[in-house]
Amino acid sequence: PTKVILDTDPGVDDALALLLAFASPELQVVGVTTVCGNVPVGQATKNLFRLLNVVQPPRGLLVGQGAARPLEEDLVTAVQVHGSDGLGELDSVVAEEGAPRYPQVRLPSVLSTAQDVWNECVRRYPDEVTLITLGPLTNVAVALKVNPLTVQKFRSVIVMGGAIGVPGNVAPAAEFNMYVDPHAAHRVFQASLPLTLVPLDVTTRVGVTRESLMTWVAESRAPLARMTTDMTRKAFQFAEKVEGHGLFYFHDPLAVLAAVDSSLLKVEPLHVSVEMAGRVSRGITIADRRQRTPEEKARPNMRVAVDVDVDRTLSLLRNRLCP
Ligand code: BDR
Ligand code: CA
Repeated sequence: PTKVILDTDPGVDDALALLLAFASPELQVVGVTTVCGNVPVGQATKNLFRLLNVVQPPRGLLVGQGAARPLEEDLVTAVQVHGSDGLGELDSVVAEEGAPRYPQVRLPSVLSTAQDVWNECVRRYPDEVTLITLGPLTNVAVALKVNPLTVQKFRSVIVMGGAIGVPGNVAPAAEFNMYVDPHAAHRVFQASLPLTLVPLDVTTRVGVTRESLMTWVAESRAPLARMTTDMTRKAFQFAEKVEGHGLFYFHDPLAVLAAVDSSLLKVEPLHVSVEMAGRVSRGITIADRRQRTPEEKARPNMRVAVDVDVDRTLSLLRNRLCP
């Protein structure tokens, strides 16, 4: 299996991405680290432990907490999408007997840092680990500065983020993870890393209606399946009332699937930059697609997912999340 670290800001789709990764025999999750984004980092870590409490985490899994704020901007969260706790307000879900279905968890008294976890994973498995980022790129930017040798020892880096040829989600043209920490994204894009970008162009093609997801759960025998509908209630409300399409998009799970089965995505080598400032342009990702001779062409700095096999992706998601 491919050894992976997930760097995440759970987040409903992050939580599903984690469940998916744990349920995928193609992957060996060796580390999970948190970052501020959808919620403040303390809450992200709490949510991570809540998930680790209900799944059987892989033995020897290393867990750490990362950056509490973006490099230069104030933190912007997405609780309007993910609920005040970031997991669709799981505390308010009650079982048939009236008790909370998801018990509160307590954090361990000693918590590693994300940087320590990455260093240790790479020490154990040099050149073998794929880093999958599901939140803002702050931890990667920090690592480039304080642990550059560690970053060089990642086999590849898969980034959920950006909107290349489609509208944004948090702003007219910006995707959330890029918007929250555009300075971090800029540093990462310029660092000559083996990057694959999984942008909204493909993730917004992989969505489900509330009804389909309810069918997935109803027809599943896995006890955990129910968590998918419990966590997505708030997100569906946002998709219906604010966005109007009514679909839940599997943004972060698709980045995990890029490591599970790369044939699900078609990628194109491109040079992509991210805008760091501007009244309306913060976080916009721009691919250089100008017509140029081979000598004049900007050198690609990443591979960008431009197309996705929607049917195969959805059926894999269903099989793994609601078996
Ligand atoms: C990204 O933003 C977050 O809200 C999601 O978890 C995902 O990582 C999609 O734009
Ligand atoms: Ca996320």
